[in-house]
Amino acid sequence: MLDAASRIPSGTVAASRHRAGYQCRQWKVDPLGKLSLNQVSLSYPGAGIGHVGILHNVTLSLDEREFVVVIGRSGSGKTSLLNLAAGFLTPSHGSIAVDGAAITGPGSDRAVVFQDDALYPWLNARDNIGFPLKLRHVAKRVRDTRAEELLDLVGLSGSGDKKIWELSGGMRQRVGIARALASDPKFLLMDEPLGALDALTRSRMQSFLLNVWQATSTGVLLITHSIDEALFLATRVIVLEPTPGRITADIPLDFGRRHLAGESAASIRSSSAFKTAYERLTLAIHTETAEFAA
Ligand SMILES: Nc1ncnc2c1ncn2[C@@H]1O[C@H](COP(=O)(O)OP(=O)(O)OP(=O)(O)O)[C@@H](O)[C@H]1O
Ligand SMILES: [Mg+2]
Repeated sequence: MLDAASRIPSGTVAASRHRAGYQCRQWKVDPLGKLSLNQVSLSYPGAGIGHVGILHNVTLSLDEREFVVVIGRSGSGKTSLLNLAAGFLTPSHGSIAVDGAAITGPGSDRAVVFQDDALYPWLNARDNIGFPLKLRHVAKRVRDTRAEELLDLVGLSGSGDKKIWELSGGMRQRVGIARALASDPKFLLMDEPLGALDALTRSRMQSFLLNVWQATSTGVLLITHSIDEALFLATRVIVLEPTPGRITADIPLDFGRRHLAGESAASIRSSSAFKTAYERLTLAIHTETAEFAA
């Protein structure tokens, strides 16, 4: 079962979306959305040889009920893929769209969390979370209400006044995720968000991420180097092979959903299905395909 820190009050965010007091309508009310990359290729200036660049012909679509994890060897283009989805980079070929509309840059429908996401040390936890809304001129009262809901969501009720240096690494990362959720994005894009945490905190944060995903119906695209983490969290694991980065496997999984349904992390990890999936994913990551080898 989940520990107290990772437990989420049910319906908090969903209920907030319909609360009459809000003056702004950035909270999500529309139907299921899709983030899609269609035959995307990317070359950095000066990188690659001939037509072979950083990413080659990547087609991937993610809907708001999915938790997609991207894994692959170092340099396979995972961060580049996430930066494309975020709109920080423009593809050399192909297109990227949200709900069928081509994206031309970053947008509030996609929030990004990096491994060492910097919080603002001069602001307390509540004001850090409300900061993206401040940029959008949302009133302080509304920002504070939203921040308190998100503090509840990430298991930090009552910590709004805490300064950043009073928070542990895991708590900081939860504030960072709460801040990313402040504008109620359709998609949460995370680049190794748990990579800097110790093993115990990391495993609690995995349960936490699953709970946030379930509570917010936000589509997740998460990058990790950990095979165990990919298997435990993902509804689909995408394997990228390097040089150039391309998708070589797309594997549906249900271990995260089993955990959300109440099965313990230990029981899941010791199951033969998990061990078999671990072996297969390890093989998928480390077996080179011949297509670009020549
Ligand atoms: N700004 C850039 N300019 C030129 N080349 C870049 C740039 N950023 C990344 N690259 C190259 O693109 C390739 C893919 O990099 P990327 O950071 O996307 O890989 P990654 O899979 O995230 O790696 P890691 O697992 O080490 O984080 C690498 O060969 C890298 O050197
Ligand atoms: Mg990377």
